[in-house]
Amino acid sequence: MKIYIGSDHAGVEVKEFTKELFKKRGYEVEDLGTHSTERVDYPDIAKEVATAVSKDLDSQGVLICGTGIGMSISANKIKGIRAAEVFDYYTASMARAHNDANILCFGARVVGLGVVESIVEAWCNTPFEGGRHAKRVEKITSLEK
Ligand code: RB5
Repeated sequence: MKIYIGSDHAGVEVKEFTKELFKKRGYEVEDLGTHSTERVDYPDIAKEVATAVSKDLDSQGVLICGTGIGMSISANKIKGIRAAEVFDYYTASMARAHNDANILCFGARVVGLGVVESIVEAWCNTPFEGGRHAKRVEKITSLEK
């Protein structure tokens, strides 16, 4: 599984930590920036990661900003993307199991590193349940213009 990852300046340190968690699990990780604490605009990074995932629907994405809000709002503007902001193990596992989310978003100023570990564990270990949830995910797709 390939993971495209990105953050703004607020998430850049947590991005480094998160990259290692995915690499340890055997994922191929491509970092699309930002690479320093110089200020950048989160929609620019969200566009890069979401566009990469939309062109390779076997891949997944990770987007980190201060709150996770701006990244998730921005990424969901791209066709084929289901970006979910999560806060803990439960919300990360539900984003995969029920929503088939393909981009994981969280806030570097919201969750601690221990919680990031549990979020990544849940994201990696939880498959989409399909069944009744598949019809609902299809309805999400049908909302795309
Ligand atoms: C940057 O200060 C902050 O606005 C950004 O990281 C994010 O939280 C936006 O949603």
